[in-house]
Amino acid sequence: MLNIALPKGRLGEKVHGLLSGAGYAAGDLSEIGRKLVLENEEAGIRLFLVKPSDVAIYVEHGAANVGIVGKDILEEDRPDVYELLDLGLGKCRMCVAGPKDFVDDGCKTLRVASKFTNIASRYYASLGREVDIIKLNGSIELAPLLGLSDLIVDIVETGSTLRENNLAVLEEIMPVSARLIANKVSFQFRSDEIGRLRDRLAEAVAAK
Ligand code: PRP
Repeated sequence: MLNIALPKGRLGEKVHGLLSGAGYAAGDLSEIGRKLVLENEEAGIRLFLVKPSDVAIYVEHGAANVGIVGKDILEEDRPDVYELLDLGLGKCRMCVAGPKDFVDDGCKTLRVASKFTNIASRYYASLGREVDIIKLNGSIELAPLLGLSDLIVDIVETGSTLRENNLAVLEEIMPVSARLIANKVSFQFRSDEIGRLRDRLAEAVAAK
């Protein structure tokens, strides 16, 4: 069986739909309750549902042969895996956001809150701007509202969370979408199966 790690939640549902369309159907996500593994013996696949930030860990260690993960997590964690395909799902942007009228006068160290501390650090290092990065785990938009930080680095999809909190995108760091990744050893020794999966997914993406 080819072990495939999927991210739990909204992206996982979209990816499950894409896999089904590509001939890799395995059960109905809405009916599985708390079950975490779905199998399709005929297609030779086993789907695991894991936290989005854990997908690349399963793949890097070989517990999953392939997985689907957001480019944001790949860029943040830089796991030692192959990135095989852009699935064009879960599209959003990694942005710097803050109060609409924020102006960086460059005089003091910027305080930036984020879940994506590596992305934020590298971004400001590339600009040569001194920053204090504050690691948060969620509801990042609260940080500038309560004076914990000047700015945030976060994912923006529809922009409604920012709008509803009187914040705005100030700079765009990179576009984000879901990617198919593979374990490096699996890619070498199971290249036929993984290549077939990649090709079928690429066809399903192109047909969308
Ligand atoms: C993400 C992100 C933003 C929001 C952006 O949060 O951190 O808060 O979605 O989406 P929008 O532009 O469509 O409003 P998530 O829902 O993952 O929850 P979190 O606050 O726990 O990180």
